[in-house]
Amino acid sequence: MQKKRGIISAFINPQADGSLAFVERGCLLYDEHGKIEYFGAVPSADTMTGYEVLLRERHVTLPGFIDLHTHLPQYEFAGQGAEALLPWLNRYTFPQEARFSDERVAELQSLNFFQTSIMHGTTTTVAYLSSHARAAEIAFTEASRVGIRAYLGLTLMDRNVPAALITTPADAERDMLRLIERWHKRGLNEFVVTPRFAISCSADLLALCGRISQAHDTFLQTHISENHDEVAETAKLFPEAESYAGVYDRYGCLHAKTLLGHGIHLSDNERQLIKDRQSVVVHCPVSNNFLGSGILPYQKFRGEQLRLGLGTDVAAGYSLSMLHEAKAMTEMAKLRAHFDHAACELSVTDAVYQATLGNAAALSRAHDLGSFEVGKSADFCVIDDRRCDTLQDEEKNHYASLPERLNRIVYRGHSSMVESTVIAGSVVYSR
Ligand code: GUN
Ligand code: FE
Repeated sequence: MQKKRGIISAFINPQADGSLAFVERGCLLYDEHGKIEYFGAVPSADTMTGYEVLLRERHVTLPGFIDLHTHLPQYEFAGQGAEALLPWLNRYTFPQEARFSDERVAELQSLNFFQTSIMHGTTTTVAYLSSHARAAEIAFTEASRVGIRAYLGLTLMDRNVPAALITTPADAERDMLRLIERWHKRGLNEFVVTPRFAISCSADLLALCGRISQAHDTFLQTHISENHDEVAETAKLFPEAESYAGVYDRYGCLHAKTLLGHGIHLSDNERQLIKDRQSVVVHCPVSNNFLGSGILPYQKFRGEQLRLGLGTDVAAGYSLSMLHEAKAMTEMAKLRAHFDHAACELSVTDAVYQATLGNAAALSRAHDLGSFEVGKSADFCVIDDRRCDTLQDEEKNHYASLPERLNRIVYRGHSSMVESTVIAGSVVYSR
């Protein structure tokens, strides 16, 4: 059994309206199950009796980051190649994912992926796995060992990919049902139904995915409208559908627990359909830049009240850091605004909100994740922003207000600034 614990530090606390509250000196107390019991000004010593309270007054504590779209088996080659999507998949992604038929590869890579995620302050990861049921078992086992919240999906493909990755709808159904029984909503885990994208899935496979996700109340993750060649190929393969989003809708894959990676090139009608179905579009700016896919008009989509998320999309994204992703999100928004001849309406605050409470809302977990509130889970990371550069204690940086420190953390941050990561009250990582 854990103890009742707490921490005194500076806090940045996302709010439901999309803003951030800056608490220069505050206190968070949580019970032995990792539920927050108090958040606010530092209380009297009496109130803190019975809690083991960590003093981190020079640090900044943020809610743990939620990575809403990433690929576990791809991390090893992050940063390699910069072709457009379809050639990149063929050259790097498919051969690497095939290696996960080897249990030892699956074990080592899963452990590395989850450990690196928590080192970056990520407390919840929503990840595609390979197509191997055994590798999926291993990934869930390793996630549980590391202590990260893990939404993981067996990546399903039954056409247009190398034979080593191909499944059949019958095998996919059997494997999914077994994984759901063993891991879905067990501990900190959830199973995610994961058809890779329309190009690699038959109508039968997509229909199975729609049916299983709805019958078992799981999330469904897939890719949509990331790249022009992908959009054109999808239209050829599904002449019966009126659009790319229409393909997924036709087979029951668009619902309120659907996470659609990218969506850069969606039409007005498709966005209306996605909005009607209450599905989420997950922005992956680093990836979009790396593969030259385009720039999602995040500000426009937000104005349309589309549900939005943010993810690293490793390995098209080359880092597992959600802080890095937040930085890229602000910079890509500025570029987009420049070419749209519009004002940039996206700030560091918006990006940090999206990486925390915004992504929690996309997972329908705003009631228990993403910010510091009584009753929520104690999922947080403690950041030592003095590690930005070599000047330490006595040589104070002039830009010392908490909003200024947040800018420094986002733009000059790196993983060694994460001093510790806590999930459901347990310290899962400490530098
Ligand atoms: N579309 C289908 N599969 C993938 C993938 O692995 N990465 C990215 N970025 N896009 C995809
Ligand atoms: Fe992806």
